[in-house]
Amino acid sequence: MPIVISAINGKGGAGKTTALINIAGEYALRGKTVAMIDMDARSNLTKWWSDCRDKDTQAEGIDVFGHKTAKGLSGFLDRNATRFDYVLIDTPGEDTSIVDPVVGQSDLVISPIQPSKREVLGAIDCFEAVLRVNGARGRDCRHGVLRTRISLTVRHTELYRKIRPIIEDKVGTYLFRTEIMERNIYKDIQNGIGTLQMQDTTETIAKARRETLGLVGEIDALLNGDVGFGKAP
Ligand SMILES: Nc1ncnc2c1ncn2[C@@H]1O[C@H](COP(=O)(O)OP(=O)(O)O)[C@@H](O)[C@H]1O
Ligand SMILES: [Mg+2]
Repeated sequence: MPIVISAINGKGGAGKTTALINIAGEYALRGKTVAMIDMDARSNLTKWWSDCRDKDTQAEGIDVFGHKTAKGLSGFLDRNATRFDYVLIDTPGEDTSIVDPVVGQSDLVISPIQPSKREVLGAIDCFEAVLRVNGARGRDCRHGVLRTRISLTVRHTELYRKIRPIIEDKVGTYLFRTEIMERNIYKDIQNGIGTLQMQDTTETIAKARRETLGLVGEIDALLNGDVGFGKAP
């Protein structure tokens, strides 16, 4: 069975699609096969992939599948149980009806947030969905909150400082140590230039690569159960 990782935050557009593309690129680089499923009717992920086709920059090892409903998703997973090492699911920012079905298929749910109250609340809702679905279906889906589009200015805000105490101490889910900084390269990726891992290594690309490696290392640790809810930070 593939490892299923989804990006969900019902309140916001903090970087779900971008984070998944970077994660997919890293696994593909390791020689893994990755299916990416676009469940967002805005189809940003699908557009990225067709732009990559036009530019002949589609990454080896990655396949992107267009808009899928909850039912379409479970059919896809049934049909492709052995074809992929990883299945990454991209979800819309506003459609709460797909949250439980996607969580029910996931081994790990990542909730990206920018430091805004709305997005933090969205991530907390998502964690509650994970706990609820785990309880109802006897599953052990993991959850983590990922800070994205972080700048030095943002780090000086009060909300930013409160994120860790809220997410880890009060709510009790995992906060990724790795933060995704605001970087032009992450914006450029959207223009169909392939994955981050396919870019020539300049100093800025190297920083983004290190960030992504840190993130994927933490994802592996979460999936292994080395960190996560109930574990000491
Ligand atoms: N770390 C980042 N640095 C700079 N721009 C980013 C970063 N992450 C996302 N973006 C940009 O922010 C916008 C929203 O990101 P996206 O990944 O599409 O979010 P979502 O899928 O949650 O709606 C896009 O224009 C994207 O290029
Ligand atoms: Mg998106």
